[in-house]
Amino acid sequence: MRKPFHLTALLLLNFSACSCIVHAQAPVPDSPMIEQKADSMLKKLSLEEKIDLIGGVDGMYIRSEEAAGFPRLKMSDGPYGVRTWGPDTAYAAGIGLAATWDPQLAQRMGVAIGQDARARGVHFLLGPGVNIYRAPMGGRNFEYFGEDPFLAAHIAVPYIEGVQSQGVIATVKHFAANNQEYDRHNVSSDMDERTLREIYLPAFEAAVKVAHVGAVMNSYNLLNGVHATQNCHLNNDILKKDWGFDGILMSDWVATYDAVGAANCGLDLEMPSGAFMNRKNLLPAIKDGRVSEATIDDKVRRIFRTSLRFGFLDRDQTDLSIPYDNPSGRAVALDEARESITLLKNDGNLLPLESGKIKTLAVIGPDAWPAVPGAGGSSQVEPYSAISIMSGLTNDQGSGIKVLYTRGIPTTKELFQRTHFGTDQSMTSSSDPFWEDWFGKPTVKVETFDNPNFSGIPTVTQVKHIDSWGAHEFTPPGQGKHSIRYTADYLPHKTGDYLVVAAGNWGDSWKLMVDGRQVLEQPHREGQAPQSTKLFLTAGKPVHIQFDYIPDGNHVLAGVGILAVDDLVSPEAKKIAAMSDAALVSVGFDPSTESEGMDRTFALPWGQDELIEAIASVNKNTIVAITGGGGVDMRRWIDKVPALLHNWYPGEEGGQALAEIVYGKRSPEGHLPASFERSWEDNPTHDSYYAPPVPQGQTPHVRYSEGVFLGYRYYTSRNRKPLFPFGFGLSYTTFSFSNLQVSPSQASSEGKITVSFDVTNTGQREGADVAQLYVGDPSAKVERPIKELKGFEKVRLNPGETKHISLSLDHRALAYWDTKSNDWRVDPGEFKVYVGDSSENTPLSTSFDVTK
Ligand code: BGC
Repeated sequence: MRKPFHLTALLLLNFSACSCIVHAQAPVPDSPMIEQKADSMLKKLSLEEKIDLIGGVDGMYIRSEEAAGFPRLKMSDGPYGVRTWGPDTAYAAGIGLAATWDPQLAQRMGVAIGQDARARGVHFLLGPGVNIYRAPMGGRNFEYFGEDPFLAAHIAVPYIEGVQSQGVIATVKHFAANNQEYDRHNVSSDMDERTLREIYLPAFEAAVKVAHVGAVMNSYNLLNGVHATQNCHLNNDILKKDWGFDGILMSDWVATYDAVGAANCGLDLEMPSGAFMNRKNLLPAIKDGRVSEATIDDKVRRIFRTSLRFGFLDRDQTDLSIPYDNPSGRAVALDEARESITLLKNDGNLLPLESGKIKTLAVIGPDAWPAVPGAGGSSQVEPYSAISIMSGLTNDQGSGIKVLYTRGIPTTKELFQRTHFGTDQSMTSSSDPFWEDWFGKPTVKVETFDNPNFSGIPTVTQVKHIDSWGAHEFTPPGQGKHSIRYTADYLPHKTGDYLVVAAGNWGDSWKLMVDGRQVLEQPHREGQAPQSTKLFLTAGKPVHIQFDYIPDGNHVLAGVGILAVDDLVSPEAKKIAAMSDAALVSVGFDPSTESEGMDRTFALPWGQDELIEAIASVNKNTIVAITGGGGVDMRRWIDKVPALLHNWYPGEEGGQALAEIVYGKRSPEGHLPASFERSWEDNPTHDSYYAPPVPQGQTPHVRYSEGVFLGYRYYTSRNRKPLFPFGFGLSYTTFSFSNLQVSPSQASSEGKITVSFDVTNTGQREGADVAQLYVGDPSAKVERPIKELKGFEKVRLNPGETKHISLSLDHRALAYWDTKSNDWRVDPGEFKVYVGDSSENTPLSTSFDVTK
C-alpha cells in the first residue's frame, strides 16, 4: 500500500507559522461548489469552443470564452522576476536561491514575485524550474535548484506557496528530465523508474502534493523515447493518478508534436497556440473515437477549476496598489544575494579584506561591470537598475579601500574588430585599434551563395574583419537560405600560442578551417556560445583562414578573431594588479555564454583562465569571484589563488552583497547545492551526458547510466573526492557539532524518528551554517547511496552561542523506489545517520534500527 507522502518539509519549514506570507488572495481548496460552477461553465461551450480553449493565444495568454463568462488569462516568465511585460526586479537565479538553503527566503521571494505579477495583471507565473543539475554544462542549471531532490523540493515548495499566496498560479517546470539544453527538442532522457522517482521527480512531486501548485509545464525533451507532452506514463500515471494533480498541465512553448498523443496523454493546454490541439486535428479524432469528448472536457474543467480556485472570475488581476519597482522586492533580492554568495577558499583568512592592511583593491574581469544579474533565455529579467561588482566594491561601505578597475581582456566584439587579416606587416604591429580600423584595408574575401551549400556562382565582396557581431549589424541577405564563405590570410607577428575564437548566432552553423584543417565547428542546433581553440603560429608565416558560415535566419551575426595569448591580458590590468594590495578577478559567464537553449562549457569562457593566472602572478592576494550556474574547470589556477567566491547569478543587488562580504560587513553563508568536480572526467555522467551520434532524423538517446549515483551520491559511495563537495561553504566564523541523539533507536518503518544535535559558533563573529542530515541504508536489498540528504536547517549564531536542532525522519525519508511493487519501500535493518555541514564533513554519526 502506498504510504502518505509526508515531506519532512512540513515539519522543518513550519509553513503555517511563517509570518512572512501575505495571504493576499490565496487560492481556496477545491470544493463541490467549485466543481459545480466549472461544470456549468463547461456546459455553455460548444465542442469547438472547448477545443479552442486548450490552445493558447497571442503568445502568453489563455483566450477568453464569453459564453462561459471566462476571462482572458495572462502569463509571464519567470522564474527570477516577472520578465515578460517590461522591466522588473531581477532576483537571484534558482541555483543561488538553492545555495542559501533558506526555505523562508524562498517563500519571501515567491511572495515578492507574486506581488510583481499582480502589479502587472499576470495570472500565471511560468516558474519555478526544478530540474536536477546532472552536469555543469546543463544550460539551465542556473534556473534550477541543484543536484539534490530533497533540497530542490524544500526550496520549490515555499517558493510556490509564496507566489500562490498572492493569487497567482505558479507553474512548476520542465516536467521532466530536462537536464541538458543541447538539442533539447530532440533528445531523449532515458532512465529506469527508480532513478526517475528518486532523483528527477521528487521536487515536482512535492510541488504537487505539498505546495498544491496550480500548473505544471511539460519539457521539450523525450523521456524514455516519448515526448513529455505525449508521455502517458509521466502525465497520466504519475502526475495525475499517483500524485492526484487536478490543475493544468501545459506544454512548453512549441513542445507539442502530436494532437492525439498529447490529448490522450494528459496535456491540458498547448502553448503558445493550438498548433496541434486544434479543431482541424481534434474534431475528426473525436468523431472517429481516437479521442473522447470526455478527455477534452477534463482539460477544460481543469482550466476552469483552477481559475475559480484562484478567484480569477471574481476580481481584476491587476493590483494597482503595488509599486512596479517594488522596494520590498529589492530587499528580498538583496537578502538572496547576501545569503547565496558562497566562499569556497580563504587561505590565510585573506577575506574579509582588512582596511588597515588593504588600501587599494584592483577589480578586474569581464563580470565586474556591467552587472550580470542573470543568465540568458526566457528567465532573463531587465532590472530597473542593477549594482555591478565593480560599483558595489567602489562604494567602499566605510572600509576606506580604494578600487581601481579595468576589464583586463577584450570583449568578443573587440577581439573580432581588432583582428586584422592580410599580410601587410605594418597593420599587425599597430596597437591602436582606432587607427587600425580607420586605415585597415579590406582583406577578407566574402563569397555569398544563394543556397546553403556554397554551390554555384557567388556574389563577391571584400571587408576588413570577419565581424558582423552586434544586433545593429544585421544585414538582411534577401530571401531563402544562403551560405557565406570568408577567406583571408592571417600574419602572426610573434611565435607562440594564439587564441582563435569564432561565433555565430543561435541556430547558425559554421566551420573554421586554418590552412585547410578544420579547427572549430558549430553544427546546426538551437543556441551557441563563442568557441575557441589554441594554435601555435610562427612569426611572419601567414596562415590561411576559411570560415564557412550558414546563417539560420535571415540575418548575419558571426565573427572570427585571433590573438596571441601573450597579448590577451591588457598591460593596464597587470599594472593595477601589481600596484594594489589585493586584486579581485571577476570571471564567469553571462547571457551570451550561459543560456537556455544551449549548453555551456565546463571551461571558463575564452581568455579568463589566462586573466586569472596573469593577475595571480603579480598579486599574491588575488580573490577569484565566479559568476555562473555551477562548477567550472579551475585546475589551471585554483592552487595559485588564496581566495575563491562563487556568486551564482546574484540578481540586481549582487554587487552590493558581494562588497558587504568582501569588506566584512557580513559573513558569507552560501553552501553548494551541487558537487564541484575537479575535472569533467571525474563526473559520473562523463561518459553518458551527451547522446551518441545518430543518423539525421533519428532520436538521440542519453542513457542515465549512473542511475541514482549522481553528484555527492556518487562521490560518497565510490569514495571519490570532488574539488568542493555538495553542501560545502566557508564562513568568517567556525562551527562545531555535538550531542547527536536519535530517538527512538529502534522503530517501525511507519514511526517517526527524531534526530537531534547541537551546533555551536566557535569563532569570533556572528555567522550562519547549514546543518545537514544525511541517511544511509547499508542493509537495503538494493544498493543505495552511502549518504542521502534527508534534513537540513540553516542556523544563525552569535559567537559562543549553541542551538539545539531537531529534525524528523519519516517513512519516505527512509524509503527507496521498489520497481517490483512500484512503490516506496523500507527494508528493515540498520540505518546510518550523519550530521555535519557538507556531504564530506559529517563529524557526527550514529545508527538506528528499523523493525518490520
Ligand atoms: C522555455 C520556458 C518558458 C517559455 C515561455 C520556453 O522556451 O523553455 O521555460 O516558460 O519558453 O517563454
